[in-house]
Amino acid sequence: MPKPTDPQSPATRLVTGGRRAEWTGTADQPGAVVSPPVWRASTHLYPDTAALKSGPKTNEDGRFFYGRRGSPTQWALAEALTALEPGGHGTMLYPSGVAAITGALLSVLSPGDVLLMTDSAYDPSRNFADGFLRRFGIETRYYDPTIGAGVSALICERTRAILMESPGSLTFEVQDVPAICQAARAANPDIALLIDNTWATGHFMPALALGADMSILACTKYIVGHSDVMLGSVTTTERFYPRLRQTAQALGTVVSPDDAWLALRGLRTLDVRLRQHQASALKIARWLYAHPQIARVLHPALPSCPGHEVWQRDFTGSSGLFSFVLNGGSDAARAALIDTLTLFGIGYSWGGFESLAIPVDPARCRSATSWPPAGEPNALVVRLHIGLEDPDDLIADLAKGLAAFTMTA
Ligand SMILES: Cc1ncc(COP(=O)(O)O)c(C=O)c1O
Repeated sequence: MPKPTDPQSPATRLVTGGRRAEWTGTADQPGAVVSPPVWRASTHLYPDTAALKSGPKTNEDGRFFYGRRGSPTQWALAEALTALEPGGHGTMLYPSGVAAITGALLSVLSPGDVLLMTDSAYDPSRNFADGFLRRFGIETRYYDPTIGAGVSALICERTRAILMESPGSLTFEVQDVPAICQAARAANPDIALLIDNTWATGHFMPALALGADMSILACTKYIVGHSDVMLGSVTTTERFYPRLRQTAQALGTVVSPDDAWLALRGLRTLDVRLRQHQASALKIARWLYAHPQIARVLHPALPSCPGHEVWQRDFTGSSGLFSFVLNGGSDAARAALIDTLTLFGIGYSWGGFESLAIPVDPARCRSATSWPPAGEPNALVVRLHIGLEDPDDLIADLAKGLAAFTMTA
């Protein structure tokens, strides 16, 4: 095993992260293993009452205390996720992506504060802000995801946090994260800068290095990668880690060692999976772009996507999730398209090895910007997740779906 201080490329860090000798054993010991095993425990036993009493006082990472503080399986995953995000100091794990978003927000907001949130945020992030946070006296104001440095005009004395998401949910606008972070810090150095980085992960977008304070992942998607575990994480800087950790501990946040182990297993192959999702999704997005029944393809790596130049500058790759806007049609025709597909499942979530297709309606969750855009009154949107099937098979399936759309339109 290389020492943790050795310089390593991102793909190598995915393989080496979290494999401490005290959790796996070393090759010269009998029984050494490659991956930390599932370590199941609620109670940890102490040799005497003096040791028992000192346990809660230390509250250090990587030290046995009680099951709620985790075990080597969860610690190994947290450490490997920290290694994924350059500039990361520590990672907290959560039982879902939404729990990670809410846990991060609760660690930086207090009654009376104002939160700025991108208008393209994942719908449940908005619901949490408009319902739960409002009930506790925290106000949320939404901003246009293409705002860039213009965000400074929205910052007031009470603004304490910004929640970015890039690219945005459903419509995939790419945000200028460095410009937003610089402008916000210039206006108030105490503002906490949070980003939902689920689409690219730290592997394709180094959010903390670009200026964010917390990089939030729905690990349910690409980290787990096999559509069988709910999990979330927040990786943050040395400055914000103590309060993130304190909040998670106060809320009793814990994830099961089995789920952590599955996520760690998924993480090891993230590089090859993401590269294949990228290549297949791009092939299909370009095919759709040229199709007469498609008005627009909303994929950050295509010039037609708002913020494409920012994607080129800040990201090292793209993943498998994007949307397209149909040329005319009706709800029934869009349903016919999706129902005709045989290789695409119909269901929520994404990031697994399999392809998915759903109809989406961004208008439901926009307030600072409008959808459909001016001049496109009937913009019907389909969101695709491109899995690891042969992209030519997926294109053939989509061609049949689009033929059904034309017949029904
Ligand atoms: C961008 C984004 N963030 C967060 C989440 C929430 O993750 P989870 O489903 O694990 O709660 C999702 C889920 O679809 C998502 O798409």
